[in-house]
Amino acid sequence: MTAASPNNRPDLADLLAFYASAGVDEALEDQPVNRFAEAAPRPAEPAPTAPPMGDNAAPPRSTGVPRAETGDRPNSPPVARAPAKTSTVPDEAQAALARQLATTAMTLDELRQHMAAFDGCNLKATAKNLVFADGNPEAAVMLVGEAPGRDEDIEGLPFVGRSGRLLDRMLAAIGLDRTSVYIANVIPWRPPGNRTPTPHETEICRPFIERQIELVNPKLLINLGGPSAKTLLNTSEGILRLRGSWRVHTTASGIAIPAMPTLHPAYLLRTPAHKKLAWRDFLEVKAKLRALT
Ligand code: URA
Repeated sequence: MTAASPNNRPDLADLLAFYASAGVDEALEDQPVNRFAEAAPRPAEPAPTAPPMGDNAAPPRSTGVPRAETGDRPNSPPVARAPAKTSTVPDEAQAALARQLATTAMTLDELRQHMAAFDGCNLKATAKNLVFADGNPEAAVMLVGEAPGRDEDIEGLPFVGRSGRLLDRMLAAIGLDRTSVYIANVIPWRPPGNRTPTPHETEICRPFIERQIELVNPKLLINLGGPSAKTLLNTSEGILRLRGSWRVHTTASGIAIPAMPTLHPAYLLRTPAHKKLAWRDFLEVKAKLRALT
């Protein structure tokens, strides 16, 4: 970038617009930091020893890729925020702690409290809110998405942005609404810039959503999009292959819950021709629900 002058202000505006469209919507510090220079050993110091296995004090492993399935893109200018906390505890220890906290939660309220107090997922450091759930915890149907976007982060509720509005219409089409379903996400904190959660982040958060499903104990599960289906149905198949047929989510205590993987509403906003596929999946849900209740 060339130095700012009154003549090249439009270039700066273009650059910011480019960043925003690429999902870069958070300015962590006032000045740019060269992380590559930071990582290089300083000449006057002895060579660094290898960090312990799994030490995540290393530079973030995120791909930095905006989430493909979540259309709720950021549209605000960059905001200055406190630098993100970095954890020096290995990820496996965090995943183990998450498992312990999840299994010791006996109610949804306890689970929410344990998640709010958990600092082991780096996404919490940049998120504004924990996005725990919306809807009726007594509902027969539970929907699980991927991770909150910008609007969800601000409101602390899942699916309240554009894709949430489409989801509400899809639910209404089969006679359901937020009083008759329960909605949560695999990841309860917004990834910065809506990037795809890393596999480590997903593994750390997995015990929480698994316990949430176990505590709600719905009759049916709907997996919204590939990441939810892959994480909760233990498969690596793509969503276009998975969708449309009943699978099973098995809880830690061995309860088998029928699960319908379907297309994520954000994907449907970008690919409206596939709405008919999601419509078929929702009709399957409606029929099964009738048979079960
Ligand atoms: N996309 C998701 O997967 N979850 C939300 O809560 C919002 C958008």
